[in-house]
Amino acid sequence: MKQFILLILAAGKGTRLKSGLPKVLHHLAGKPLIEYVLDASRPLGPSSTLIVVGYEAEAVKSALAGVPAQFIDQVPQLGTGHAVQLAKPHWESHRGTILILSGDVPLISTHTLKSILETHWKTRPSVTLLSTFLEDPTGYGRVVRNSRGDVERVVEQKDASVQEQGLKEINTGIYCFEIADLVQVIGELSAANAQGEYYLTDSVGLLRRRNKRVGVMVCEDPLEAIGINSRIELAQLEQVLRGRKIKQLMLEGVTIVDPASTYVALDVRVGRDTVLYPNVFLEKGSLIGSRCQIYPNVRISNSVLEDNVIVLDSSLISESRIQSSAQIGPFAHLRRHTVIGKEARIGNFVEVKKSEIGDKTKAAHLSYLGDAQIGQGVNIGAGTITCNYDGVSKHPTVIEDHVFVGSDSQLIAPVTIHRNAYVAAGSSICEDVPEDSLAIARSRQVIKENWARKRRETRRKG
Ligand code: UD1
Ligand code: CA
Repeated sequence: MKQFILLILAAGKGTRLKSGLPKVLHHLAGKPLIEYVLDASRPLGPSSTLIVVGYEAEAVKSALAGVPAQFIDQVPQLGTGHAVQLAKPHWESHRGTILILSGDVPLISTHTLKSILETHWKTRPSVTLLSTFLEDPTGYGRVVRNSRGDVERVVEQKDASVQEQGLKEINTGIYCFEIADLVQVIGELSAANAQGEYYLTDSVGLLRRRNKRVGVMVCEDPLEAIGINSRIELAQLEQVLRGRKIKQLMLEGVTIVDPASTYVALDVRVGRDTVLYPNVFLEKGSLIGSRCQIYPNVRISNSVLEDNVIVLDSSLISESRIQSSAQIGPFAHLRRHTVIGKEARIGNFVEVKKSEIGDKTKAAHLSYLGDAQIGQGVNIGAGTITCNYDGVSKHPTVIEDHVFVGSDSQLIAPVTIHRNAYVAAGSSICEDVPEDSLAIARSRQVIKENWARKRRETRRKG
C-alpha cells in the first residue's frame, strides 16, 4: 500500500453528551470511542499518526499513552477546519495523501478505510469523501451533488435550506485529501456560518470552485458512519454491538436463554455448550470455558472460568480464576487475584479476596477469606473469618491440606493451620495449629443445673 498520514480529530468537548469526560473517552461496549478509530486504522499502517486533542487534552493523552502518535493541542476548539489548520505544520511538508477521521465515528471498519484509500489512489481527485445514506439524516452534514451527480459541497444541518435538509446522503466526516490541494484551501475557511466555526467540510466547496475534482465513496453499511453526539447514539450503537456479539456467541454454540438481557463485552470468549441465563454480565477481559452454567444476575469481570464451572445466582466475580468443575454461589463475591481450585465449592454469602483455594475445598456458607492460602480438601465451616487486617496492614492465613475448620471460627492472621488439623467450632485461633492436632480456642461451657426453674419460681413469687 502507498504511504499516507493519518489525522484524527478528537478535540471536541461533545457538548451534547453533557459530560465532564471528553467525548472520545466515553465507552462503547467497554472501550473508549477513540480506540475504535485507532484499532480500525492501525492495520493500514499510516506513516505517521496525528491526533488533535483539546477538551480535557491531558485525560485523552494519558488514556492513549503508548499509542505511537503525535498530539496537537487545540484550545479553544473553533471547529473541525480549525483543528486541521492547527495540525498543518505536521502535515503540510509531506507529499501524498492525508486520511482524516473523526474520533467520534467508532464503527468505521478497516475494510472501508482501505477501500476509500484505494478508491482515492485509483481515481486521483483532490479529495475523496466517505458518504452514506441515512433514513434519518438529522444532525449530519449533507452531500450536495449537481445535476450530473458530482459533489459540489457539503452543507451542515444548521446551515442547510429546507430542500437540502431533505437530502439523505450524509458526510461521514471521513476523507482522503491530497496534501498539496488541502494546503491551498485550508487557510481560506471562514467561520461565517450558523455555528461560528471553521468547518473542514467547506474545503470541499472551495476545491470545487478551483475546479478541482471531488470524489465520493458511498459506505454500504450506514452503521459504520454513525457519529456519537449524544448518549442516545451511544446507547443505540451499544445495542447494535451487543446484539452482534450475542449472535456470534450463539452461532459458536453458546446457549443464551434471553439475548435481550445478556451483556457480553466484545473481547470475551465463551466455550461451547455453556449456558448464560438472563441478566448475566460478562465484562472485559473474561474468558469462559465450555459447559459452564452461569445463572441469573451474575457479573463476571476480567476473570477466567475453566470448563464445567457453575456460578449460581447473584454472584460477583472480578479479577479471579475459577478452575474446572468448581461451583460458586449463590450470592458469592470473589475478587482481586483469587484462584478457586478444581471441584471446589464457594457457597452463599462467602467473600474471597486475594486467596488461593485448593481443589475440592469447600467454604459453603457465610465466610470471609482474605489473603489466605488454603490447600486441598479443606472444609471451611459456616461463618469462618480470616482476620487479615490489623488496622494497618494485611496478614496471611495459611491452611494446609485436609484441615477442618469448625463453624464460626476466627483465624487471626498471620497464622498457619497445618495438615489434617481440626479447629473446633467457635474458636479464635491466634497461634499456629500443628499437624494432626485439634485446636479449641473458646471458653469452657458452664452448666448451672436448675437455673431456669429457680428463676421461674422467683419471678412467680413476685
Ligand atoms: C461533523 C461534520 C459533518 C458530518 C459529521 C459526521 C463538520 C463541520 N461537520 O459534524 O458534516 O456529517 O461530523 O459525524 O466537520 N473536533 C475537533 N475540534 C473542533 C471540533 C470538533 O477536534 O474544534 C472533533 C470532535 O472531537 C469530533 C469531530 O471533530 O471527533 C467531529 O466534530 P463534531 O463537533 O462532532 O462535528 P459534527 O457536528 O458531528
Ligand atoms: Ca460528531
